[in-house]
Amino acid sequence: MTRIHIAVSRPYDVCIGAGLLPQLGEELLKLRKACTVAVISDDTVLPLYGEAVCASLRESGFTPLTYAIPSGESAKNLTTYASVLTFLAENRLTRSDLVVALGGGVVGDLVGFAAATYLRGVDYAQIPTTLLSAVDSSVGGKTAVDLTVGKNLVGAFHQPILVWCDTDTLATLPPVTFRDGCAEVIKYGLLDDAEFFAYLRENRDTLDLTHVIARCVDMKRSLVVLDEFDRGLRQLLNLGHTFGHAIESVSDYSIPHGHCVAMGMAMICRAAAAMGAMSASDAAAVEEVLTLYGLPTHVPYSLEELSDAVLSDKKIRGHAVALVMPRAIGSCEIQMFAASALPRWLAAGGAV
Ligand code: NAD
Ligand code: GLY
Repeated sequence: MTRIHIAVSRPYDVCIGAGLLPQLGEELLKLRKACTVAVISDDTVLPLYGEAVCASLRESGFTPLTYAIPSGESAKNLTTYASVLTFLAENRLTRSDLVVALGGGVVGDLVGFAAATYLRGVDYAQIPTTLLSAVDSSVGGKTAVDLTVGKNLVGAFHQPILVWCDTDTLATLPPVTFRDGCAEVIKYGLLDDAEFFAYLRENRDTLDLTHVIARCVDMKRSLVVLDEFDRGLRQLLNLGHTFGHAIESVSDYSIPHGHCVAMGMAMICRAAAAMGAMSASDAAAVEEVLTLYGLPTHVPYSLEELSDAVLSDKKIRGHAVALVMPRAIGSCEIQMFAASALPRWLAAGGAV
């Protein structure tokens, strides 16, 4: 097992390894006295891993209760959030009890937000079961739900007390969901670690998932400890996301997030190469690795559609935009642009 300490305002460990679920109770007992634990998951993940989690908790003297929300992004809303709060209240959870989020990023974000707000904040642990949630959403304390007008518009920073990542759970992921996570993994290599990028390029069929997740979590750790509340450097994690979000929005969310990020990364690398900010060979290597992992690099939408989507993004309209600019594999920087300059960058990235 690999243990990574996240030294933020409320510090905690991220533990990664194969076969960890049966040891969850033992680990939580180091952090909390035996208490009631609300294990909140979704209706895909709870049948797969709920019993292993509950058995481990019972063995260590905890009293587990389970609740499943519907799976998928469409459930990440205020109605589901209220149903989780109601479940916690009906079962009389107190601030000495615990909440566990068992699932992907949707469960982690929504349950984390419920934990941040129920009784003005109760402790929770994350058990990520997708590659994306293991390398990204379970770490760093961002919690949220969506509104009909946009994603992640209501939320809070609330750090978990533990992230417990059993890599065996990734074996049941649908291939498309696994590939989604691969886009974020490749993002970390491009962002900060050329050696890791080369490892991904050379070892696709023999990836050591504990090593891969640990390397990504460690890179996220280094940004989160410097900028816990996302006011500056943490925005480097948005590499590929400005164009990726535009693609996601034009697709009406029919293309999975990681696939949009892959296209967004390929576009910003092509644009950086065209503008002389990155070498053409590095940009080509990024496209090559994305393709190797079954991810798309070319966008099925026009420059006009993408420009409209970029410029109508509520977060950036009319303002200067922080764009994460790749300079070389393993090296990126935040550059400020007028929002009106983005269509030019989209065109340089290959949008026609
Ligand atoms: P997800 O949670 O919807 O999971 C994808 C699908 O896989 C779901 O249908 C789920 O039921 C299923 N699934 C999960 N684990 C499984 C397993 N082990 N076996 C079989 N099926 C399994 O999606 P995701 O990609 O994990 O997360 C996306 C969400 O994460 C988005 O809402 C996004 O906004 C959020 N996010 C948050 C942060 C953050 O910092 N908080 C960062 C990145 C993304
Ligand atoms: N996924 C972006 C962040 O945690 O900041």
